[in-house]
Amino acid sequence: MTYSTLLFDLSDGVALVTVNRPEKLNALNATVIAELGQAVSRIETDAEVRGVVLTGAGAKAFVAGADIAELAEQGPIEGKARALEGQAVFRRLERCGKPVIAAVNGFALGGGCELAMACHIRLASDQARFGQPEVKLGIGPGYGGTVRLPRLVGKGRALELLLTGQMIDAQEAYRIGLVNRIVPADRLLEEATRLLRSILENGPLAVRACLEAVDAGLEMTLDHALLLEANHFGLLSATADMREGTAAFVEKRKGEFRGR
Ligand code: COA
Repeated sequence: MTYSTLLFDLSDGVALVTVNRPEKLNALNATVIAELGQAVSRIETDAEVRGVVLTGAGAKAFVAGADIAELAEQGPIEGKARALEGQAVFRRLERCGKPVIAAVNGFALGGGCELAMACHIRLASDQARFGQPEVKLGIGPGYGGTVRLPRLVGKGRALELLLTGQMIDAQEAYRIGLVNRIVPADRLLEEATRLLRSILENGPLAVRACLEAVDAGLEMTLDHALLLEANHFGLLSATADMREGTAAFVEKRKGEFRGR
């Protein structure tokens, strides 16, 4: 598979996916969204892909939003269809069952902030900037900004960002819980990959169950979410990985997980 707006490099289980339109600050046009959808299909189905680091090409931007040149032309039918398509791609990424880390290397605005929020963990370079500036263009977020931002940072902080459209720096994004960590720009990819590899040392079925339980559990009543967790706990107790992990602990060695 070759892409015109993405780079997809697989190395020892880690897929490094780079949005690659640096001359337009990696803005999400229809091609990027379609190709992200194809990349997600591979992530979902290719057993060689065990986890993902997602970043943007160049030193300046992660993704500077939806492509404003395309937005400027759209009518209401097309606008809704575009939002639904992007939302579906981001949602599939969020539910792909494998850990996805956003390495936010610069501007993450509008659709870029929304893409980062659809990832499971966000590392920000000290150069990163975040914002949902759509209202400045007379439109609102279309790829989940009003939905994921309040879930991540709380309603008041989300509304301040959504209503003002103001940009915040990496420190502020860290302070409000939008990013997990800040990393020096020149070490961002290395740290994101290191973090991902530390996750990949764990039982993959257990990791997948955590992703599923948190994703589904946040939408459930407390009692249903607890029941889902108990069901995962029971199900994982039937896996060879669980026998191996507990045996390895007792034998004081590192577990060798096979995803079985
Ligand atoms: N869509 C389309 N093109 C974009 C873009 C976007 N979201 N963001 C940046 N670009 C393009 C610029 O038009 C410019 O292209 P050009 O060289 O052909 O004129 C190029 O990327 C570089 O951007 P530029 O604005 O010159 O860089 P800057 O350093 O002066 O400013 C930003 C950087 C991020 C502050 C500014 O580009 C910006 O505000 N972008 C839009 C952010 C936004 O509103 N996103 C939400 C969209 S819903």
